[in-house]
Amino acid sequence: MQSTVNWNEYDTEEMVRGDRDYLWHHIKPHKVFQSAEQMIIVEGKGLRVTDIRGKEYLDATSGGVWSVMVGHGRESIAKAIYDQLITMGYYAGAFGNIPTIKFAAKLIELLPNLGKVFFSNSGSEANEKAFKMVRQLSHIDPSRKGKYKILFRDRDYHGTTIGALSATGQLQRKQDFGPFADGFAEFPHPLCYRCPFDKSYPGCNIDCARSVEDVILKEGPDTIGGCIVEPITAGGGIIVPVPEYYPILQEICNRYGIYLIMDEVVCGFGRTGKFWGLDQYDVDPDMVTMAKGLASSYMPLSATVVRQEIFDKFLCDPADPEEGINYFRDISTYGGCAGATVAALESTRIIEEENLVENSRVVGEYMLESLQALSDMPLVGHVRGKGLFCGLELVKDKATKEPITEAEMGRIMGLVAAEGVLIGRTNSSLPGNNTIMNFAPALIATKADIDEIVAAVKKAIEKF
Ligand SMILES: Cc1ncc(COP(=O)(O)O)c(C=O)c1O
Repeated sequence: MQSTVNWNEYDTEEMVRGDRDYLWHHIKPHKVFQSAEQMIIVEGKGLRVTDIRGKEYLDATSGGVWSVMVGHGRESIAKAIYDQLITMGYYAGAFGNIPTIKFAAKLIELLPNLGKVFFSNSGSEANEKAFKMVRQLSHIDPSRKGKYKILFRDRDYHGTTIGALSATGQLQRKQDFGPFADGFAEFPHPLCYRCPFDKSYPGCNIDCARSVEDVILKEGPDTIGGCIVEPITAGGGIIVPVPEYYPILQEICNRYGIYLIMDEVVCGFGRTGKFWGLDQYDVDPDMVTMAKGLASSYMPLSATVVRQEIFDKFLCDPADPEEGINYFRDISTYGGCAGATVAALESTRIIEEENLVENSRVVGEYMLESLQALSDMPLVGHVRGKGLFCGLELVKDKATKEPITEAEMGRIMGLVAAEGVLIGRTNSSLPGNNTIMNFAPALIATKADIDEIVAAVKKAIEKF
């Protein structure tokens, strides 16, 4: 890749020192920076990124957290943002603006069973909005009185804020951040490789989905208003539920008047080989939340999209002294700002025009097969995934499925990076273990890119 960075603009060692001395990095133990070189990415084009020392990598993480769907360095997105900012940079979301109106209409075209879009800035916030809608309706809608609780699934992640974290089923994210918010209840995960009921599909009665009813009955059906799930669990270990799973879950939710909320923060915008993760299943959620791939992370943007009937419950006569305050009293300073929605419009146009969802499906199938071909190697416990989103679970012992340690995982990740490929890791449900490699290149990936990724992983495992 031809570098366009002016290397004289800064001093590399000074930046490395500044990174260590001033910047508090996300989810990293900072002591590692004192002994190892910290990676600072300075440039990206397509699937390739370059670090501050000039080393080039194939980015199989879509920017670290599975979000740069259209690849790095898209000039048309940068230009759309620039043009918008010099025309009308910012005016609060309460007033609407042209790209935001257009993008809301686009989202409804993409989710035709839903009717209204509420914009915010992050996946966490989009989920908080969904919870707040459920909670407010438990006060203002007589048919939903007292139905304020949210069900969530073991191993799913829904964000970093206290509400979203309260709805998260990953010990590693939650540990030491309690106490959590009231009104959240957990049900079992659907990972067949580590079945919580010790059963095997298809002779399992899909108990993982049915068991949600036990939690509903225990908590009290009249207290539960929503159930949030990731269509395919991302950070909890790339968990792809079986086809029967969501129809069963949905039937139970419908029976008890519980809104089904699907968190498409990772799966949306083509990651799994269909436009939405929910498109992989026969399911029709009441609310859909999204972020990351929405604007390919060129700008921060998220959305909570809901059925028209849900929105209508918040319509009230402002002149009426009793019902006048029953509108959704929520605000987000940057939610739906024009620079972000114009980026989302352009990113979505690219996804459609370049047929990237279909590419994700086709190249994703190739990635899954190529990774599955490593199954006979030592350490490779299980390979799973959908579209350009795969996980490879590493275990010490294939019979007991005992995970490798976090330190061992760190060493393998380092070996993969040394081969010039950046991959991610996700958490197992066990505290202190990170044993699942994940692969989520931008949707422009080719079969040759996949060969490069898989070769690097194979070499790293062999060296280890
Ligand atoms: C499924 C899911 N939901 C929500 C979030 C939170 O999004 P954000 O980090 O933008 O708040 C994430 C973040 O990784 C996620 O994976």
